[in-house]
Amino acid sequence: MKKLFFITSNKGKVHEATEKLRPLGFSVVQKDLGYPEVQADFLEEVAAWGATHVQGRFNHPFMLEDAGLFIDALQGFPGVYSKYVFFTIGLEGILRLLRGVENRKAVFRSVYAYSKPGKKPIIVIGECTGVISTEKQGNHGFGYDPIFIPVGAQKTFGEMTVVEKNQYSHRGKALDKLAIVLKDLQ
Ligand code: IMP
Repeated sequence: MKKLFFITSNKGKVHEATEKLRPLGFSVVQKDLGYPEVQADFLEEVAAWGATHVQGRFNHPFMLEDAGLFIDALQGFPGVYSKYVFFTIGLEGILRLLRGVENRKAVFRSVYAYSKPGKKPIIVIGECTGVISTEKQGNHGFGYDPIFIPVGAQKTFGEMTVVEKNQYSHRGKALDKLAIVLKDLQ
């Protein structure tokens, strides 16, 4: 097994990455180093900036990820502010903003940055389209999982196992791409 450091404080993300990358020969090791999340318009900028910041303090190959939920009827809100919004108005606040709104389309985006010492980070992106449910359902996963139903499913991420969620999710798709990059780099 090849060790792969994942710079994150989010155990849910580590669990998902572990399930996805273990069969491909990678053992994911969480490193909660912390890094500032720059205020930017795109997740790619947040991830690339974070990777460059961590590179200066951590002399091993690593990956980190930034994700967000973009809701159609709210012109992409909360998007790059998903974390802040989750900890402020939360799921109830989002459901309130969408009360009576017919268009419930949303997309989750995930951006991974993979970084080797002294090299420019490699960026991969995954997306998952779906709808925002009318109420919270399920208590698996984290963040917005209980209110997001991916296209092709009849239940929220919050009602899925990690393996099930990975089959649909933005992070699962980004990790598929990252696995190809990692194979090519070997
Ligand atoms: P960050 O990538 O940790 O900055 O995530 C931004 C926000 O989006 C956090 O509040 C997460 O809880 C939320 N989020 C990111 N990915 C997911 C997911 O797969 N499911 C539910 N919420 C997510």
